[in-house]
Amino acid sequence: MNHVDQKSGGGKSVLIFPGGMPRSLEYLENSLRDGRSVIGASSLVHDVSREKYPAWLFLPFVTEPEFGEALKQAISQADIGGIYSPNPVIWDYLNRSLKELAPGVALVNASPVSVELSGYRAALGQARGWLDSPLELASNVAAKPVMPAMEMAALFRHADIIPGMCDHEKFRVLCEIARRSPAGDIVEIGSWWGKSAFILARLARCYGIGKLLCVDPWSNAHLVQNDGTSMVDKVSAQVDAEEALAIFEMNLLPYNANHVNYLRMPSTDGARHYQSWGDVTTASFGTTRYDGRIAILHIDGNHSYAAAKADIAAWSCFVPAGGWIVVDDYIWPYGDGPQRAGDEFMAEHQNRIDAAFVMGSALFLQLSAPLAGKLARA
Ligand SMILES: C[S@@+](CC[C@H](N)C(=O)[O-])C[C@H]1O[C@@H](n2cnc3c(N)ncnc32)[C@H](O)[C@@H]1O
Repeated sequence: MNHVDQKSGGGKSVLIFPGGMPRSLEYLENSLRDGRSVIGASSLVHDVSREKYPAWLFLPFVTEPEFGEALKQAISQADIGGIYSPNPVIWDYLNRSLKELAPGVALVNASPVSVELSGYRAALGQARGWLDSPLELASNVAAKPVMPAMEMAALFRHADIIPGMCDHEKFRVLCEIARRSPAGDIVEIGSWWGKSAFILARLARCYGIGKLLCVDPWSNAHLVQNDGTSMVDKVSAQVDAEEALAIFEMNLLPYNANHVNYLRMPSTDGARHYQSWGDVTTASFGTTRYDGRIAILHIDGNHSYAAAKADIAAWSCFVPAGGWIVVDDYIWPYGDGPQRAGDEFMAEHQNRIDAAFVMGSALFLQLSAPLAGKLARA
């Protein structure tokens, strides 16, 4: 006979079994937040996760003959209406036997195997789709052969689990410009949790471009951009820049082969450092020596007009012929800073721009010559 140790509850509950698996604990947390009544269960006599649940019961192992009867009893005693199980064997068994064992009680989650694999399958599908329909791109640098499908799927999959702001269209064009890029550094202004930085770091490696330098103050003060409706500033006030840098490091460190580093400072200070020093040293990434020419400049910092203009002005002088300048959020619902700054740059330097197009929400420019006829640091 099952004894339900119930601290609270009422109404139809969801049984979470086994209660101690990481996905079970995630489901528990979401349920408590959403006010869903849940009961944890385990076949272990002492299960450390028991204390986390508002109600708990013991079930025999699914392989034991008394499991079915014990589950039936638990369902009627605790008024269970559904079962969540992230364990593939238990899920499969219940999927086959619940109809007979407890008609009216259903599994509330999809097959754990397909849930866990769906991101990988999507990444492979995406990579194959992109390879089947390559983008035709005007460029003054000949394209290198495209990376193998598996490399692209890996890039896609790992980028997907990093939170951040890089839509698929922009991602796709970054892949294309990377293989039509001269050698040199990749510099990113504004990295936050590191999503686009990760993509750029992998592209730099896969296409042998050079090293990635991320420039970001990771400070809440620099997040203020006085967008017209203050909708962005309100959200920015709720995030923690110190934590963002820690997340950036967690995301980028595993992929660092002495080719990634960062300057924690505003972009204009970063440009002065870049002009005077070849090296960047941080405790986490060590020392990285940069080339001084920027093959790809990704501008995704503060989006106020003044900041976007200053970012372009401070860094574009390091971009050689064939190098790319990407102005992110050229199309941006919250303001027109990147667009005005990008348009002014194009108007001023049109005789040194070979390609200019917008894809996703970003502006992509390829230079035909360095801006002042020579690079700021060469
Ligand atoms: C939109 S987020 C970057 C998103 C990131 N590229 C991604 O893929 O998810 C903007 C970033 O710009 C940074 N930032 C703000 N002012 C800056 C400045 N003056 N120089 C460099 N970065 C700046 C912010 O700290 C923030 O990390």
